[in-house]
Amino acid sequence: MKQQLESILNSALAEIEVAKTSEDIENIKLNYLSRKGTLNSIKKNLKDLSVEDKRIVGSLANEVAQTLESKLAEKSSEIYRIELAAKLESEKIDVTLTGSAHQVGRVNPLTSTINEIVEIFQGLGFSVMANENSPECETEYVNFDMLNFPPDHPAKDMQDTFYTNVAPNVILRSQTSGAQIREMFTSKPPIRVICPGRVYRCESVSARKNNLFHQIEGLLIDNNITFGDLKGVLNEFIRIYFGEARPTRFRNSFFPFTEPSAEVDVQCIMCGGKGCRVCSGTGWLEILGAGMVDVNVLKNVGIDPEVYSGFAFGMGVERLAMLKYAIDDIRLFFNNDVRFLKQF
Ligand code: PHE
Repeated sequence: MKQQLESILNSALAEIEVAKTSEDIENIKLNYLSRKGTLNSIKKNLKDLSVEDKRIVGSLANEVAQTLESKLAEKSSEIYRIELAAKLESEKIDVTLTGSAHQVGRVNPLTSTINEIVEIFQGLGFSVMANENSPECETEYVNFDMLNFPPDHPAKDMQDTFYTNVAPNVILRSQTSGAQIREMFTSKPPIRVICPGRVYRCESVSARKNNLFHQIEGLLIDNNITFGDLKGVLNEFIRIYFGEARPTRFRNSFFPFTEPSAEVDVQCIMCGGKGCRVCSGTGWLEILGAGMVDVNVLKNVGIDPEVYSGFAFGMGVERLAMLKYAIDDIRLFFNNDVRFLKQF
């Protein structure tokens, strides 16, 4: 048995000597030192020996095991070092190589224009209407009827309004003014809100018109509100938005839901009022529609017109962005051409 142990030791040492990988080391451990390994099978036979021999062979077996363990540990740390060096070498990266550049995205000019306008009105005491009061898919009832449009109004015609097949009276809103109705139904005066959002019109697309565009609606209802308040708010807005007090013109106009109504022009940004291609020679550019909320509309939503009055306005975001950034084609906002978008 002593000889057997010695030959086990020698063959194990020889195997350790030529081991090259940590896997080799594991195999040697398994073959010689594990529960099912060679050394253990020797120990199992000890029971057949005399007490004296048991002691001698037993301690020899332990010695062999210790020797093997320490040799294995030595060899495995050597192999670890070699393997690590090889791994480091093979996974080496050149940190001086130039990286690939990432394109940084930008805020779309329409979004930044909306944000800017919203901030101006917030500064004037308006807050942004809750989203649930401003659905893009709207009923004819809210978009037209409650806003005092007579049943046969041409704006309801198929040419202007997108009808859906959700239900006969469900449309894509043609204006954000319906949000006024929803707001007045759900809150009591004083009301001071703005509502930015998408609107849809069934029109042929051109440099000036798109099927989809954005409006910002404003509504203010309180005691003793006059047209003077409307002019003051809008003039202040124009001054802040264009960075200077531009000449404005409140032109008499008509909307079913406001009386009196006005369309507001600013002096042409391009020609300073002399007349050019952009303002079609008039020297003026229309930027919004506005007026005092019609008594019929107040009655429709249960607000007493003897106690309260107010004004509303609606402006086209694309229009305002085009004027500010001298953009001459509305389609540029929607084509996703990075050469255009990169400029903002
Ligand atoms: N909704 C009108 C339009 O789309 C604009 C408007 C809003 C006019 C509010 C008056 C008051 O043309």
